[in-house]
Amino acid sequence: VTISVAKSGGNATTNLQYGAMEEEINHCGEGGLYAELIRNRAFQGSTKYPSSLDAWTAVGGSSLSLQNLTDPLSSALPTSVRVKGSGTAGLTNAGFWGIDVRPQKYTGSFYAKGDYSGSFTAALTSSNGKTLASTKVKSKSVSGKWVQHEFTLTAKSTASNTNNTFSLSFDASKAKNGYLDFNLISLFPPTWNDRPNGMRRDLMQALKDLNPKFLRFPGGNNLEGDTIEGRWKWNETIGPLKDRPGRATTWSYEETGGFGLIEYMEWCDDLGMEPILAVWAGLALNGDVVPEAELDVYVQDALDELEFLTGSVDTELGALRAKYGHPEPWKIRYVEVGNEDNLNNGLESYKSYRFAAFYDAITEKYPDIQVLASTIDMTLEGKAGGDYHLYDIPDNFITKFDMFDSYSPDHPILLGEIAATEFNNGEGIDWSDTNFSLYPWWIASVAEAVFLLGAERNADKIIGTTYAPFLMNLDSYQWSPTMISFNANPDDTAKSTSFHVYSLFNENHMTNTLPATSEDAFGPLYYATGLNSETNSRIFKAAVYNSTEDVPVSLTFSGVGRGTKADLTILTAPDALSMNEVGGQNIVKTQTTTIKAGKKGEFSFKLPNLSVAVLTTN
Ligand code: AHR
Repeated sequence: VTISVAKSGGNATTNLQYGAMEEEINHCGEGGLYAELIRNRAFQGSTKYPSSLDAWTAVGGSSLSLQNLTDPLSSALPTSVRVKGSGTAGLTNAGFWGIDVRPQKYTGSFYAKGDYSGSFTAALTSSNGKTLASTKVKSKSVSGKWVQHEFTLTAKSTASNTNNTFSLSFDASKAKNGYLDFNLISLFPPTWNDRPNGMRRDLMQALKDLNPKFLRFPGGNNLEGDTIEGRWKWNETIGPLKDRPGRATTWSYEETGGFGLIEYMEWCDDLGMEPILAVWAGLALNGDVVPEAELDVYVQDALDELEFLTGSVDTELGALRAKYGHPEPWKIRYVEVGNEDNLNNGLESYKSYRFAAFYDAITEKYPDIQVLASTIDMTLEGKAGGDYHLYDIPDNFITKFDMFDSYSPDHPILLGEIAATEFNNGEGIDWSDTNFSLYPWWIASVAEAVFLLGAERNADKIIGTTYAPFLMNLDSYQWSPTMISFNANPDDTAKSTSFHVYSLFNENHMTNTLPATSEDAFGPLYYATGLNSETNSRIFKAAVYNSTEDVPVSLTFSGVGRGTKADLTILTAPDALSMNEVGGQNIVKTQTTTIKAGKKGEFSFKLPNLSVAVLTTN
């Protein structure tokens, strides 16, 4: 394939080509990125998932019972646990399917109520009973009042596995009533940037390695909720943890609300990601839609959320943000209205009044914000952008390579959820009977690369792309495959085959596309061409899908002469079905060579079948 790349004539890209998407699914936040180690720390429940003692067991002969006291810890956390016994009493937590213990300091706290003059013991213990860390906490507990106790635990060595538990015990003979009430029992390992209520360091490092340029949050289906009342409510995820009620996710578990709006924004700050904030748009997953006459309150709620995030401290909600530790307003440049409003009976109302109501109100108050619809299945108003999602078999990603060539830059599109999920079957996904892979696999990642190249060729119109879902705790998940998979053990985290593809494309960022001409049609070689104006490097990104032999490439960049050097990186894998698994090795082979332009300035090389490659001139 002979390709000539022009010197100019392309378009400036949005500079956000690759990002991340987050919603509470797969325990990606709770039991994942959100570093809290105690599962069911505040016995939160809902009609859908009633409060329970899940993850807790009693110490020794003591007994545990859930209580809805007349004087609860807070109205947000009405349920607590009563621990009753005669001698040593207490409760043990199994963590999010294990607790990683290594020589580091753990920061904990709990609320207790009851007249108790002794001390508490907080400990981390291995499955064979070895104490890994232990500390005594002097009781401040009094009758009739919830009192918070804080402690630290320092482990001296690394536990041999993650089958460890946390326990909190006390001498029940010194408790006046023979019992004590507890709530909000929390334990954190060191977090990313040492933020209180922060994020798991190893998973943040994995994300940092990918260097996502944006974060689309907080969903996904989980934003929508099963019912209108069950929607994700930003104002219930801020402030002290004891005032966050949590909610039933749409993904079969209760969330605590600990990983809330401010934590999302801090996450963006910590990794330099552009926030793409999704606001609730009047549609729930059960198909209930807010009628036009009742929509105002939800539009106002979105405006309030924006004031909370971006308003000066002189505004009511900006002042609230300052009270919660963030006087400096955040900048929001993108707001997405809803999630997949083309589904669940939503499109008609979205087209006729829901989207317009949010679009008008947001653009009137915040003219600089790019408002995005959650679909491209409609004519987009004004300067609105859209969001396109694609879950499919690998072959169907190839047919969409040129999908964006005819789109207008007037309505930029976010590729907000993209993943090849099911093995090639000649058709596509049967949504009534899905058969998704546990992990991304190599041919799927190459097919995604082809689709990403189609987007990069149009990177003035495509705001950016993110894989979804992004993270999965292998011990409790609802949707695979994901970009990164993990369990309680940081050493087991798997960066998927797709991670390596996205990472290569992201590292070699194009600030401008450059037009290319060739007499050969696309396929089996697909490519995008451009430059990075900061380094003045010319860039060629490519993928080979379904070729019977290596593809010879002769590539010239106008203005790049004989002898110019370029780095050529080629990703391959042992076979089409190879995967990166939790606890396993990375199977993606990365080979970088430096090559020189020939007499006519041509770079000559061969790309094997099922490879993904980037060439950058030095
Ligand atoms: O990413 C999993 C789900 O797929 C999202 O919640 C939803 O937006 C999409 O249908």
